[in-house]
Amino acid sequence: MQIIIASDYADMSRKAADVIAAQVKNKPSSILGLATGSTPIGLYAELVKDYEAGLISFKQIQSFNLDEYRGLEADHDQSYRYFMNQNLFNHVDIDKAQTHVPDGANPDADAACAAYEIAIRQAGGVDLQLLGLGHNGHVGFNEPADFFPVDTHVVDLTESTIQANSRLFDSIDEVPRQAYTMGIGTIMKADQILVVANGADKAQIVADAFTGPVVPQVPASVLQLHPRVTVIVDAEAGSIIKDRL
Ligand code: F6R
Repeated sequence: MQIIIASDYADMSRKAADVIAAQVKNKPSSILGLATGSTPIGLYAELVKDYEAGLISFKQIQSFNLDEYRGLEADHDQSYRYFMNQNLFNHVDIDKAQTHVPDGANPDADAACAAYEIAIRQAGGVDLQLLGLGHNGHVGFNEPADFFPVDTHVVDLTESTIQANSRLFDSIDEVPRQAYTMGIGTIMKADQILVVANGADKAQIVADAFTGPVVPQVPASVLQLHPRVTVIVDAEAGSIIKDRL
């Protein structure tokens, strides 16, 4: 696991964009695993800049997002599909038919999740998976638990995640209570993983997840067992782990 402490959010975003841009340049038909949330917004903006500067093309890229709220249509402004369109897909030459997000509108959870696993497998597996980090160590919507969930599955969101995400909805009652998410097994199958985190409020979990014990109560800790992980954090999020490296 390589841990890089960037100076600030802009530096973290640029460094993370460089990892993705290198992947896209080296293998133009890459399968990218993508994340939503506040953390990657800056790095997506950097990738758009690279595209506009003619440095990279997404023409042959396929993508699979980590997760989606259950019950939100793709055009809902808080759906993760909408987020991806707004922050990346609408601004680059990616073929939207090659971009995949779990189908939140499918009420049949088993069918939606099984179809997603099959689609990832049929595409040949994820080359580079981008992850953000929840305050409780969640990755995707894999919340702290007594075991590591394997495949794409439906989850009940924890109160802390509902609280954290309510900032994006008009009221907390509108936050969906369930989501479809890649499993830890799905994530760990990616060839390469890139984790980003910023802000002082992530400092403790960054340190615990990447230097503490590997336990399902801290889902991101499992990434310590993956052979090719890069963690890029800003100075604030790196303020505790820096003394443990
Ligand atoms: C997003 C996702 C979540 C976020 C995490 C951090 O697709 O799966 O696990 O990465 O909640 O969110 P932010 O970046 O908003 O702090």
